[in-house]
Amino acid sequence: MGHILAIDEGTTSTRAAVLDEGGRTVASAAREFDQSFPRPGWVEHDALEIWRVTREMIGQVLGTSQFTAADIDCIGITDQRETTVVWDPTTGRPLAPAIVWQDTRGEEIVARLAERAGDRITEITGLPPATYFSAVKLLWLLESDEEVRRAADSGRLLFGTIDSWLIWNLTGGVDGGLHVTDVTNASRTMLMDLATLDWSQEMLDLTGVPRDLLPEIRPSIGDFGTVASRHLLGGVPITGVLGDQQSAAFGQCAFTPGATKNTYGTGCFLLTNTGTTIERASGGLISTVAFQQEGFPAQYALEGSIAVAGSLVQWLRDNLGIIRDSAEVEALADSVEDSGDVYFVPAFSGLYAPRWRSDARGTIVGLTRYSTKAHISRAALESTVFQTSEVIETLRRDSGFAIDEIRADGGMAVNGALLQFQADISACTVVRGGIESTAIGAAFAAGIGRGIYSGTEDVESLWEETGRWTPSMPEPDRTHRRGRWEAAVERSLGWV
Ligand code: G3P
Repeated sequence: MGHILAIDEGTTSTRAAVLDEGGRTVASAAREFDQSFPRPGWVEHDALEIWRVTREMIGQVLGTSQFTAADIDCIGITDQRETTVVWDPTTGRPLAPAIVWQDTRGEEIVARLAERAGDRITEITGLPPATYFSAVKLLWLLESDEEVRRAADSGRLLFGTIDSWLIWNLTGGVDGGLHVTDVTNASRTMLMDLATLDWSQEMLDLTGVPRDLLPEIRPSIGDFGTVASRHLLGGVPITGVLGDQQSAAFGQCAFTPGATKNTYGTGCFLLTNTGTTIERASGGLISTVAFQQEGFPAQYALEGSIAVAGSLVQWLRDNLGIIRDSAEVEALADSVEDSGDVYFVPAFSGLYAPRWRSDARGTIVGLTRYSTKAHISRAALESTVFQTSEVIETLRRDSGFAIDEIRADGGMAVNGALLQFQADISACTVVRGGIESTAIGAAFAAGIGRGIYSGTEDVESLWEETGRWTPSMPEPDRTHRRGRWEAAVERSLGWV
C-alpha cells in the first residue's frame, strides 16, 4: 500500500501527517510556532524557525509511524498563502522576517498601486489591490529594507511564499535547491496573470519587481523535485503543492463547478469551483486558481477570504487571557443562550471579503453590565459565521451559483453548534468532511502526481461525510441577527 507524507504549513502551526492510499491518517505531528507583532498591524514569522519546526515534525511523524523515507512514496506540501520570504541563495539566510498575509504595513503602497491601475490589477490577477497579497509585502521590503534592496540589485535575492522556501530547502538549499512555486500560490502574489498562468510583464512593470527574484511557476500536481539526500526524506519526490485553501478544496473534492467548501482555520476561506472558466468576481470576491494538473488546463475558483476566525480564539487566550486554552471557548460560548446582543467585529487586519476595507479595525458593540466573557466568546465565534454568511450572499448574488450546500472543515468545524448557526444564518446545508481536509488535499494531489491515484475521480470515492446541519432558524430571526451584524460592521469602518 502506498503512503504519502503531507506537510501542512498553516499560519500558526506546522503539521506533518502520513496518510495511506485510502486517505486515512496513519500518524501526525503538529506544533505551533512564534507569531511576532512588532507594531500595530504588523505580523511576522521567522522563516528559519518554520523550516526547523518542519524538519522536527517530519522526524516526529516518521518516528511515530516507524517509517523511513523508503516507506514514503511522495510528498504533498500545502501552505499559508501570500506570506512573503526573501532570502540569499548563497547563504540560505532570510534577509528579513517573513511578512505574514495578515500584515497591513503596505497600505501606502496599495493606495499608490490602486490609484495608478486599480481595475487593471484586478483584470490581470483576479485580485483587488490589498495589503493581503505578496507583491505589496515584497515591494515594501524592496523599498524599506536597505539590505534587501542591495541584495536584489546584486542578483543575490530570491522571493518565495512558504511553499517555495520549503521546496528550496528540501531539495538542496544552497547546494542547488529548486526555486519553484505552484500556480495556486503564484495566483496570490498579485503578479501572476490568471489567464496565462505566468508572471505578468505588465504587473512587473507596474510594481518594478525584477523577474529574476521570482520562482518558476509549475502546475500544482506534477514535479517539484526530490528531497536532498542529507534530509530524513532524502530521495522522496515532491509531487503536489497547493496553497492551503485550494488544498482544503481539493481534500473536500470540490471538483465540479458550484462545489463549495469553507475552511474554519486561522482565517476562514470559502472557495467555489468555477471549472476551467475564470469567473470575473465583482462584489468583493477573488478570482483564483483552484488547481492545475500537469498536462491539463487549470481549474479556477471564486473565493471569499476572511482574515480572522480561529485567530480570534487565540487572541482571547493570549491577549485577553479570558480562556486558558482554545478548546475552552466552545464550552464558554455554549454556557449562554445567545450573545446577549453583543457583536464582535474582528477587523484586526481591516476587513477582507466582501468589503475590502483596510481602514476598519476591530470592535465589540452591545456591551452592558449583563455581558460576561461567555457572551464575548460567543460573539467571537458567531463573527466567523456572520462573515461567512456575507460571503455566501455575495456569491449567490454575483456568481449565479445557488450555494445551498457547503462543505466545512478546519479546526473550528469540530464545533457542531457553530455549524448549526452557520446553516441557520446562511440558510444553507452545512456538510462536514474531514477536519484536516487541507492535509488530505495535499496528499491527494501528491498521490495523483505520483500515479497512486489515476485522477480526481479516483480520490472522490475516498471523501467522507462526518456531519450534516440543516437550517432551522425562522426567517425573521435570521434577518434580525444579520441586520445587527451589519450595524456592528458599520461601526468598525473608517477607524484608521
Ligand atoms: O490566505 C491565507 C491563508 O492561506 C491562511 O490559511 O489555514 O492559516 O487560516 P490558514
